[in-house]
Amino acid sequence: MTRYAHITGWGTALPEHVLTNHDLEQMVDTSDEWIVSRTGIRERRIASPDQTTASLAADAALAALEHAGVKPSGVDLIIVATSSPEHTFPATACIVQDIIGASKAGAFDLSAACTGFIFALNMAAQAIRTGSIDTAVVIGAETLSRIVNWQDRNTCILFGDGAGAFVLQGSEEPGGVLEAVMHADGSGADVLSLPAGGSKIPTSADTVAHGLHYVHMDGRPVFRFATRVMAEATREVVEKAGLTLDDIAIIVPHQANYRILEVAARGLKMPMAKFMVNLDKYGNTSTASIPIAAVEAAEKGRLRKGDKVVMVGFGGGLTYGALLAEWTGPFEDKPPVKPERIRLLARLRSAGKRARRKILNLPVGDEKLGG
Ligand code: ACO
Repeated sequence: MTRYAHITGWGTALPEHVLTNHDLEQMVDTSDEWIVSRTGIRERRIASPDQTTASLAADAALAALEHAGVKPSGVDLIIVATSSPEHTFPATACIVQDIIGASKAGAFDLSAACTGFIFALNMAAQAIRTGSIDTAVVIGAETLSRIVNWQDRNTCILFGDGAGAFVLQGSEEPGGVLEAVMHADGSGADVLSLPAGGSKIPTSADTVAHGLHYVHMDGRPVFRFATRVMAEATREVVEKAGLTLDDIAIIVPHQANYRILEVAARGLKMPMAKFMVNLDKYGNTSTASIPIAAVEAAEKGRLRKGDKVVMVGFGGGLTYGALLAEWTGPFEDKPPVKPERIRLLARLRSAGKRARRKILNLPVGDEKLGG
C-alpha cells in the first residue's frame, strides 16, 4: 500500500516588535528608499529578550498541532531547520520536544541555511512514506537578530525573526508532499557564513573583536546564484513530478529579495501574481520564511485544498531546492488557529507552573501542554 505524507496543520510565531526601515535609518547609514528599491523589504519582526529560536519554534509547533488536531504525545519526529540555533548542541529540536511535551518524538536540527525548511520537509515526508513514522512536526525558526551585526548595513537591513511549522501525517489517500529536489554547491561556502564559533575558528576574544561571530555575506554572488537556481529548481521539481508549470496554483518562494523573485518569475514565464510574497512585512527570516509565507497564503485563501504548490528556496552552503505538494489541510475540517489562541499558547508555554495552572484554571499537576 502506497503511503503519502500530508500537510495537515500549520502555525506561525511572529514577535510583536516591528523594526521599520525608518528605524534602521537611525542605526546605520541607509535609507528606506534604498532598502525598498534594492530588496522590497519595509519592516521586519525582532524577538523580545525572552524569546529564543526554540521558544518561537515551540509556539509555531503548538499552533500547528492544534490546527491539525494532533496532541504533542502523538508526534514521532520533530525537525527544526534553523540558521540561528539555540546552541551548537544540543539540538534546538530537543528543546522544542521538551517544551511542547512530545514525549515519544525523536528530534534533530537540520542545517541548510534558508533552504533548510524544504530539505526538512522532504526528510520528514520520506520517513512517513516509508512507514518508518506516522506524524512529524517540521519547523523553520530563527532569531537572526542575535547573529547579525547591527552596524553592518550590508546585512542588518535584510533579516528578521520568526518561526513557521507544518504537521505532516501519513495516509493512504494520494496527495501531500509529491516530489522534491535538493542541491548544494559547497564551492560557494564562503560567500555567506557565520565564520567563528565552530571547530575551525573557535570563539576567542580575537574572533569577537573582529566580529567573526556575526553573519558575513558577499551579497552580489549570492544574488547571482539565487536568480539562476530559483527558476531551475522549480522547473526540475515540476518535471520530476510529471506535471507542467500550468498545473501549479502558487509558488511559495524563500523571501529574500523582491528582485530575485522577479527574475525567477521572468525565467519561468509566470506572472508575479503566482508568487506568494510577504517579505515586505517580515524581511528574510531564513528557514522560517517559506512556512510563514505558506501559512499566510493559506489563511488568505490563496492556497486551497487540492492546490499544487511549489516551495522553492536558496541559501548559505550554498544550497537550493524545491518541493512540490498537493495542499491538504487538517484531515477533519478545522478553521485556522486564531491569533488570540496562539498568544495564549505562547503565554502558557512561557508561564511558570503556577501561572500556567492559573491561566488554564486547572487542578494541580497537569503541567505539560496538550500532552
Ligand atoms: N543602505 C545603503 N547603501 C547600501 C546598503 C544599505 N543598507 N548596503 C549596501 N549599500 C551600498 C554598497 O555599499 C554599495 O555602495 P558602493 O557602490 O559605493 O560600493 C551599493 O550600495 C551597492 O551595493 P550592492 O551590494 O551592489 O547592492 P545590490 O544591488 O547587490 O544589493 C543586496 C545588495 C540587497 C544585499 C543584494 O546583493 C542581495 O539581495 N543579495 C542576496 C542576498 C541574500 O538573499 N542573502 C540571503 C541568502 S539566504 C541565507 O542563507 C541567509
